[in-house]
Amino acid sequence: MTIEINQLLANFRPPAFPGSYFISFEGIEGAGKSTQIIQTQRYLESLNFRVLVLREPGGTSFGEKLRKAILESNSPIHPVAEMHLFCSSRAQLLHEVTLKELAVPGTIIIYDRYIDSTIAYQGMGRGLGIEAVLKTHQSFPLTLVPHLTLYIAIGLNTSHLRQNKRQIPKDYFERQGNDFYQKLIDGYEKSHELFPERVFKIDGEKDESFVFEEIKRAVHHLIERVR
Ligand SMILES: Nc1ncnc2c1ncn2[C@@H]1O[C@H](COP(=O)(O)OP(=O)(O)OP(=O)(O)O)[C@@H](O)[C@H]1O
Ligand SMILES: [Mg+2]
Repeated sequence: MTIEINQLLANFRPPAFPGSYFISFEGIEGAGKSTQIIQTQRYLESLNFRVLVLREPGGTSFGEKLRKAILESNSPIHPVAEMHLFCSSRAQLLHEVTLKELAVPGTIIIYDRYIDSTIAYQGMGRGLGIEAVLKTHQSFPLTLVPHLTLYIAIGLNTSHLRQNKRQIPKDYFERQGNDFYQKLIDGYEKSHELFPERVFKIDGEKDESFVFEEIKRAVHHLIERVR
């Protein structure tokens, strides 16, 4: 790793709001993010946290319009434009909701996708490069990262099998081929490598209860570490 990328990575820090935590879920389509978020929210509420679940892109009225524009697009979006659209949605959600809510002690904000999705999809999938993605975030500026990222890792076959089970029309990214998906997996692996303290990798090929036990373990480690 070059000195330059190390300096770049050092700019990405989690928020410092006493008693509040920022957690994101990552993984390719069908990894089990939505499934696990519902369970995690319920579990954290049982521990008396106030839990808010937000999704990217979207989560605000303006952001939902951007989400529609991207995911329902029938014409190609240039990778650079795509990255900036995601960053716009991210900035809006962060300032309109996340930072205000985290200021209330005892809050946990859960994001369904965040910066690691941009690293995987635009950095690797679209070929912009991880450094370009990180630099864009630095200049936006968008350098706030979660305390904990739960990366649920599955392979290509599992992703296809689970997507087919759902039988809903495929969105903009789901229509891409196998090569694209392999790049996403590589991108997530790279994120895990670059942010080893923040990104916790879970074997998503295992059953739902195994994945949930791993999530609980990581969450407890966070709460006990930051407290
Ligand atoms: N560990 C698991 N083992 C088997 N099936 C699973 C597991 N986790 C989730 N599933 C199933 O896989 C499908 C996709 O799960 P889910 O919608 O939670 O994925 P996702 O990561 O949110 O996908 P997307 O990125 O498309 O929103 C669902 O039918 C779900 O029931
Ligand atoms: Mg989902």
